[in-house]
Amino acid sequence: MKIEVAKTAGFCFGARRAVDMVYKLLAEGKKAATLGAILHNPQLVAQLEERGVRIVAEPDQTPPGYVLVIRSHGVTAQAEAEISRLRIPYVDATCPNVKKIHNLAEQAGRQGRVFLLMGDPVHPEIVGIVSHCTGPYYVCSGVKELEELLEKKPEWKNAPLALAAQTTFHAGQWQNCSETLKKVCTNAAIFDTICNATAKRQKEALALARRCDRMIVVGGRDSSNTAKLRDICAGQCRTYLIEKADELPDFPAGLSVGITAGASTPASIIKEVLVTMAEVNNTEQNFEEMLEESLKSMNTDEKVHGVVVGISPTEVYVDVGRKQAGFIPAAELSNDPSVKPEDVVKIGDEMELLIMKTNDQEGTIMLSKRRVDAMKGWDVIQEAQESGEILEGKVIEVVKGGVIVLHDAMRVFVPASQATANRGDNLNALQGQEVRFRIIEVNRQRRRAVGSIRSVLREERKAAQQKFWEEVEENQAFTGKVKSLTNFGAFVDLGGVDGMIHISELSWNRVKHPSEVVSVGDTVNVYVKGLDRENSKISLGYRRPEDNPWVKLEREYPVGTVCQAKVVGMTAFGAFASVIPGIDGLIHISQIADHRIEKPQDELKVGDVVKVKITDVDLERHRVSLSIRAVLEEEQARADAEAENAPAEEVVFSTEASEEAPTEE
Ligand code: F3S
Repeated sequence: MKIEVAKTAGFCFGARRAVDMVYKLLAEGKKAATLGAILHNPQLVAQLEERGVRIVAEPDQTPPGYVLVIRSHGVTAQAEAEISRLRIPYVDATCPNVKKIHNLAEQAGRQGRVFLLMGDPVHPEIVGIVSHCTGPYYVCSGVKELEELLEKKPEWKNAPLALAAQTTFHAGQWQNCSETLKKVCTNAAIFDTICNATAKRQKEALALARRCDRMIVVGGRDSSNTAKLRDICAGQCRTYLIEKADELPDFPAGLSVGITAGASTPASIIKEVLVTMAEVNNTEQNFEEMLEESLKSMNTDEKVHGVVVGISPTEVYVDVGRKQAGFIPAAELSNDPSVKPEDVVKIGDEMELLIMKTNDQEGTIMLSKRRVDAMKGWDVIQEAQESGEILEGKVIEVVKGGVIVLHDAMRVFVPASQATANRGDNLNALQGQEVRFRIIEVNRQRRRAVGSIRSVLREERKAAQQKFWEEVEENQAFTGKVKSLTNFGAFVDLGGVDGMIHISELSWNRVKHPSEVVSVGDTVNVYVKGLDRENSKISLGYRRPEDNPWVKLEREYPVGTVCQAKVVGMTAFGAFASVIPGIDGLIHISQIADHRIEKPQDELKVGDVVKVKITDVDLERHRVSLSIRAVLEEEQARADAEAENAPAEEVVFSTEASEEAPTEE
């Protein structure tokens, strides 16, 4: 469902002024009585009654000790005189626009003009105005009545007349009335007294009703301006007049619904309607934006002062000095959905809160802390954008297209392109992180603040790079983090500057890919092997000299050493065998056996472990020669020598002739 709220919905200036006057009296600890209901809105009137405000029909009914409030419609001249005669303390909330018509009515009589007034003859505003007339007057409720009156009074053709209207009179009808009078009478003074707020509200309601499938007019059923709004809208689409959210009808899905409200409708009731529609439709972010927008355009200053009296995991209970129980749902406490109520407030905390919804049946008031905080936060955000100041906040959400950073209850959207130092970096890694950012766009109207983490990261990186190049020296040791791997090496972040460990530098052993030695994210100890300041390139060393297998070979395996070696490769001219990890020696084909062989495979295969003698080491060219044959020959020689040196066998001669004489070869 698409919902659109009229910008002019809700309290007009005069209604707001009158209600404020009553609240001011209450805040000053005074007792207040209103001469008639302060506004045509039963919900507001009931609320005031709960706070002890009395409604009196006549001035002399004002209880002693009460201050009488004259409502925005104004009162009769007689009532004014009575108040003054009885010396009743009073405040005059008569709307200045209505006061102006009182003066016109008075002047018309004095100038000898007949005063013609368009409006509802029984409406208190009209009753009040005509009481100020000092000459003849007539009240017509519409153009038809005016025409009939003019027909009956042909003598008015050149007579001095004055025409005015009730402040909430229908603007279109007023046009017809004034034209009708101009045609008939040549000496008419015409005063357009329709209140601007009314005209604007009606015009907007008409335009809204034309583009919507349904209209909701929120306001009291006794309110004349609300009824006029309903009539205007009903001419364009199906229209519902409701006083409270629980009167909302069911709408089929997919409709566009427009909402407007009469001049005497408090913002809290419009908010309640909007919140209920959001709940019913389970609408998403657009609705939230629309609600925020509409709240902004209405009188959003319905704030109350509250004291925390209880905390539960889902709500905070607040005393707002009214009969109703105030509560703040956890979602309205803070813009950070992960915080718990007890982390945000404690019992006894005092705070300013915004009224979100009142439920008279249940006697509760739903309040919001986060919205009040957010309102204050806008100023901070705006200033930060202008000054370029760096702000700090926590990433509370990863959303489609970016992240949400919370700064002092303000939600700042950071698009993906501005969230990390490099395009394509994982946004999820930011969740829960404290970040520094700048505000790059503020649209207060749309309640949108956009930030950039990248601009701060880049700036910090640039500063770090400059410092690094000023201080770096060859052989300097660093501890860095492996950022990425390529086929030819590993890139290491040294703190704002990247260096590269070439694959050959990763290990003394032969490796096919850097991932055999390091992984992205590993912390490594490296040293600067080479610096190319012109091209800002750093080559890093990772292997430790003491691990160099050639050093070990020289120290522990001098030429002549006989040791075990594992065959690791075969060629036509010999076999390679690993002496120690990292060093393979060649057993030439002539050195594989102690006899002539056709090919190495005749005697050896990969994986065989053989006894070899190190016959030569070329440390410069990193070559080692091995020989099996040398081992075999040495062993043979040793065997021969042993045999030669063996003692002669004892010969025992027998005195008796042997059967067979020994023969000697
Ligand atoms: Fe005054 Fe206009 Fe409201 S006349 S009371 S501001 S509608």
